[in-house]
Amino acid sequence: MPDAISVTVNGTAVRVPLNSTALVAILMSRASSPARFVRRSLSGEPRGPLCAMGICFECRATINNQRHSRTCLILCAPGMDIRTDD
Ligand code: FES
Repeated sequence: MPDAISVTVNGTAVRVPLNSTALVAILMSRASSPARFVRRSLSGEPRGPLCAMGICFECRATINNQRHSRTCLILCAPGMDIRTDD
């Protein structure tokens, strides 16, 4: 069994440890960027994960075309397509 899998975040391949959440993939995709937010509010403000346990809904993204997925609750699967709204 592999110890890492590949997913895409906004079209870019990201390799994440097995059993990582989609939120981890998003943050790893931005490891070298100062932009650590996951989405933007309706008024355009950058938003990021707050609770990491499914309560705040601040980590929402589109996963495999399913909009408003809470990325902190969903484990990555090989080939998963994750899209942030920024
Ligand atoms: S970080 Fe709060 S619901 Fe995901």
